[in-house]
Amino acid sequence: MSEIVLRAKDELPQEWFNAICAIHDAVFLQPPFAWTSDTSRENAEDLCRLAKEPTFGVVVACHDRDLIGYAYGHRLPVDHGWWRAIAQPLPPEFTREWDGRTFTLTGLAVLPGQRGRSLGKRLIGRLLGSRTEERAVLSVQPAAVATQGFYRHLGWRLVGRNGPFPDITPPHWDVYVMDRLPRQEPAC
Ligand SMILES: CC(C)(COP(=O)(O)OP(=O)(O)OC[C@H]1O[C@@H](n2cnc3c(N)ncnc32)[C@H](O)[C@@H]1OP(=O)(O)O)[C@@H](O)C(=O)NCCC(=O)NCCS
Repeated sequence: MSEIVLRAKDELPQEWFNAICAIHDAVFLQPPFAWTSDTSRENAEDLCRLAKEPTFGVVVACHDRDLIGYAYGHRLPVDHGWWRAIAQPLPPEFTREWDGRTFTLTGLAVLPGQRGRSLGKRLIGRLLGSRTEERAVLSVQPAAVATQGFYRHLGWRLVGRNGPFPDITPPHWDVYVMDRLPRQEPAC
């Protein structure tokens, strides 16, 4: 049986873009996630825009020639609005930003038939391990209870719920932080 390999890049080849969008739609256009008829198009547009960020990074899991999972994200600008969108007050030493402090894990999914084999953990580990930022933040839908259990198991900490965002489905998101990113050993 051929093995699953992870591949990382800081730009997004068209074939990865197409495969990531297909996995996104297979995973997120069904419960427990909330979606609309615009979700697929909006995701593709967001990914297209994010991939142009100079700090973008992506890791994919490949089995033979097929993509079966992905993780991607980018560095947040200092004036991002993530903390302001959370109702409960957060300590100023936490919300203070400087260039390079915070990475955001924007996309993560593993195809249903491939779950439970450490792929989600490996994708995140490879992506975060390659970063120079101090910490990472992500948002996850409140209904995605299993996904939140996965994040907590990996050491992510719930900092609060943001929203309501009138034009976003769902209108509230739970925000998790990993306070210190793991560092990958430099290759000899
Ligand atoms: C979330 C997701 C990426 C996890 O991928 P996965 O490959 O199934 O997870 P892994 O096998 O890597 O699990 C890693 C660890 O988390 C644990 N874990 C998995 N689900 C868990 C849960 N619901 N609660 C607690 N721990 C959990 C595993 O037991 C494993 O523990 P171990 O390393 O100590 O043995 C996958 O379920 C998925 O694609 N879900 C739908 C999309 C999604 O929610 N994306 C994130 C949007 S914010």
